[in-house]
Amino acid sequence: MSDIREQVDLIREVFAYADRFRGQTFVFKIDDQVLGHPDAPQHARDLALLHKSGIRIVLVPGAQERIDEVLHRFGVETQHVDGVRISPPESMDLIKMAAFDAAHRTMTALSGHGITAVIGNWVRARTRGVIQGCDFGRTGTVDRIRVDAVLRSLDQGHVPIFPCVGHNEAGDPFNLSSDELAITLARALGAKKIFFLTHHDGITSPPWEIPEGVEILDDGRVFRMTPSCAQEFISINPNLPQRRILKGAAEACRNNVDRAHILDGKVGGVLLKEVFSNLGMGTMVYSDAYERLRPMVSSDIPGVLEIMRPLVSEKVLVPRTAEDLERDKNDFWVYAMDGVVHGCAALHPQEDDSAEIAGVAVDPQYAQLGIGAKLLERLFQKARDEGHRKLFLLTTRTADWFLARGFSEGSVADLPASRLARYNASRNSRVLIKNL
Ligand SMILES: CC(C)(COP(=O)(O)OP(=O)(O)OC[C@H]1O[C@@H](n2cnc3c(N)ncnc32)[C@H](O)[C@@H]1OP(=O)(O)O)[C@@H](O)C(=O)NCCC(=O)NCCS
Repeated sequence: MSDIREQVDLIREVFAYADRFRGQTFVFKIDDQVLGHPDAPQHARDLALLHKSGIRIVLVPGAQERIDEVLHRFGVETQHVDGVRISPPESMDLIKMAAFDAAHRTMTALSGHGITAVIGNWVRARTRGVIQGCDFGRTGTVDRIRVDAVLRSLDQGHVPIFPCVGHNEAGDPFNLSSDELAITLARALGAKKIFFLTHHDGITSPPWEIPEGVEILDDGRVFRMTPSCAQEFISINPNLPQRRILKGAAEACRNNVDRAHILDGKVGGVLLKEVFSNLGMGTMVYSDAYERLRPMVSSDIPGVLEIMRPLVSEKVLVPRTAEDLERDKNDFWVYAMDGVVHGCAALHPQEDDSAEIAGVAVDPQYAQLGIGAKLLERLFQKARDEGHRKLFLLTTRTADWFLARGFSEGSVADLPASRLARYNASRNSRVLIKNL
């Protein structure tokens, strides 16, 4: 009986995840050693199932081992610097052959499951150039991805496959790092998740040292961590074979990918277990949006004004000058990524035990990602920390958003005296209140 209950619970879990992930984009980087593994057909079947469940999947097959093999067979030796291959121009035909071979193998594996996959030249590359005197030849870096074309392909229900080769404007081919390609793609396509299906064993402790904040499970598996914990993990475990992947996972999660999963591709079924169960099977780096919230500093003010400008013209927000913001600097929190502000909100303490929420604004390009809600949550916390018992705000157009977040209708009589004196009757704003 309990067996049946467990199975039913599992089925419910799967349905809940399937519902949540439908229509979302997942990027998969697959090591070529995994493509040659006896469990590879299982991965192909599971990728096909994910695709059929409505997840938009994008594949980046690695080709490192295949490239080594082909170059070796033709007697061409290449060197690596810091783990990056130097690609002499004369090696490019062989590198292309190996990269496209890996892509074709992936396509063939999916064809067996009725999936239409397409291999495309969607990546513009540029030379990596000469770094500290070392000329990387035809080793390139991703310059740009033709996102529109990839999205069209996804919209038509195809699975795009990206070989680790890109072309510059003149059409010359460059050898790309598949890890870098997968991370750039995940960012560019707004992917929810990126998976690294590696040929390495899972990350466990022992042997690896565990910094504070990293969660491990009873069996020693390193379960999950934030990008900053991942950075710490790498620095205290310099011999970790997945260092570069973990670094890339952290980078992806700092750039709007929700989660990066590092998996042992030698284990059949690992993909489905990771996608559809709470504990998964690998190591996950997750984007901690709260890490991006911080008090505003003076250098944020131009960015904040920029976000507010169109809202002020539409009379959604009251006008503020740089001087106003400098004066009220300590009241503002911002949501910033790579030093660029994408959202802001302020809590202005009043003479009584209340505080006003104001200046809530999110960059429209980052709308509906929960940034506004997180800023508001942060202000609630700030208000509690500062001992305020009541919050109020004035709004002309955004009442519904606040009402859905715990505010209720109030009136001008709820405003503290000094705020009432400054109440601009011509705006006729609604007053919303929330007791803490
Ligand atoms: C209101 C605002 C801060 C929301 O920021 P956000 O980061 O996009 O919000 P979240 O992602 O946390 O929430 C998104 C949800 O709010 C809803 N929403 C967004 N703007 C809304 C509005 N003006 N009225 C009602 N609901 C709104 C979205 O439809 C979405 O709903 P869903 O969760 O059901 O899909 C943002 O739209 C904004 O900057 N608006 C202009 C400035 C403004 O009105 N500020 C308040 C003046 S005091």
